[in-house]
Amino acid sequence: MTDKKSSATPKGELSIRVLAMPESTNPAGDIFGGWVLSQMDIAGGIVTKKFSKGRTVTIAVNSMTFLKPVLVGDTLCCYVDILKVGTTSIKVNIETWVARQYEEEREKVTEGVFTYVAVCPNRKPRAIEEKCKVKCI
Ligand SMILES: CC(C)(COP(=O)(O)OP(=O)(O)OC[C@H]1O[C@@H](n2cnc3c(N)ncnc32)[C@H](O)[C@@H]1OP(=O)(O)O)[C@@H](O)C(=O)NCCC(=O)NCCS
Repeated sequence: MTDKKSSATPKGELSIRVLAMPESTNPAGDIFGGWVLSQMDIAGGIVTKKFSKGRTVTIAVNSMTFLKPVLVGDTLCCYVDILKVGTTSIKVNIETWVARQYEEEREKVTEGVFTYVAVCPNRKPRAIEEKCKVKCI
C-alpha cells in the first residue's frame, strides 16, 4: 500500500541522479524496468562501498516494487537507507524518485531492498569493521 503521507519525502541518502534517456525505453516507449533497477543497484553500491570502506557486491535483490512508470526526460534520484549491518553484509532500502520533465514536484516510482556483501580483492567476504558500524549507524 502506498500512503501519500509516508511517500511524501524521500528516505535515505541521495546517492545518484541520472537523466532517463530514450535509449533506455521498452517497446511501449516508457523506461525499461531493468534499467531503473540497475540504477538502484549502482546507487546502493556507492553507499555500501563508502560505508564499508572497500569493495561490495550485490548478493540479493530481496524485494522490488515498481509503483509508477518512469518516462523519457525524467530525472531519476535514488535514495539509499541502511537497514541492517551484519558481519559481512549490508541490507539497504532504496527509493527512486523522479522529477518529471519541466515539473518541480517529485514522485516516488520504485522501492526495493537490496543486500550487498563486503569483499576482499580475492572476492571473498570480508568483515565490516566495528568502527564503520559505530560511526555510520
Ligand atoms: C557475495 C559472495 C562473495 C558471498 O559469498 P558466500 O560464500 O556465499 O558468503 P556467505 O555465505 O558467507 O554470506 C555472506 C553474507 O551474505 C549473506 N547472505 C547470503 N546469502 C544471502 C541472500 N540470499 N540474501 C541476503 N543475504 C545473504 C549472509 O547472511 C552473510 O551475511 P553476514 O556475514 O552479515 O551474516 C558470493 O555469493 C558471490 O560472489 N556472489 C556473486 C556476487 C556478484 O557477482 N554480484 C553481482 C551480480 S551481477
